[in-house]
Amino acid sequence: MSDEAKRMAAGAAVELVLDGMRLGIGTGSTAEHFIHLLAQRVKAGLSVTGIATSERSAELCSRLGIPLTNLDETPSLDLAVDGADEFDGALNLIKGGGGALLREKIVAAAAKRFVVIADASKQVAVLGAFPLPVEIIPMARQPLSQRLAKLGAVVALRQTADGKPFRSDENHWILDCAFGPAITDPPRLAHTLSGMPGVVEHGLFCGMTERVLLGSDDQVTVINS
Ligand code: A5P
Repeated sequence: MSDEAKRMAAGAAVELVLDGMRLGIGTGSTAEHFIHLLAQRVKAGLSVTGIATSERSAELCSRLGIPLTNLDETPSLDLAVDGADEFDGALNLIKGGGGALLREKIVAAAAKRFVVIADASKQVAVLGAFPLPVEIIPMARQPLSQRLAKLGAVVALRQTADGKPFRSDENHWILDCAFGPAITDPPRLAHTLSGMPGVVEHGLFCGMTERVLLGSDDQVTVINS
């Protein structure tokens, strides 16, 4: 999928930003387009305060001059904008391909409006072709892997290029759970996962998304919840 489609979606999201807004700022390649386009508006005089969903996005925001705050100072946000790995017809999402799902969910939940920016490769009939990231406490790896396998997933510990366990910004591990395109009831699976001791958070975002801005090379389609 072209980078232009992601940029188009990000551009439509930047148009939703109003002067004075408190903004949740996502993670990933689509969110990075959003950050670059937002920075242009900030340079032109727009006043916003952002909360980034990852160290990576925070660094980019700082470099481009977008003022940042935190949830202690600003516990409630006007709008959060982020990418997704998959979304279905009910706007349930899989997120966390970039490993930032925990902070992404906290920030999205703190926002009055949560808007997703994506290209057509993210739109699916049934979630699950993209392995579902589940963020865990390291000591729970084996029992959780067994429980997740019993639910039908092929489970893999996410690793860095040099073979070490990937660490999230909050210093947890991530199990990538390949269910196949078979997550027919995302809220139910989300509930089950949330009830497993050792699971810190999972990448199913259900009932949170107000709209998806779906970019293509020459237009943006708005899909409302
Ligand atoms: C980061 O942890 C993810 O949730 C991203 O939002 C997701 O992976 C989308 O990333 P891209 O915009 O790079 O596809």
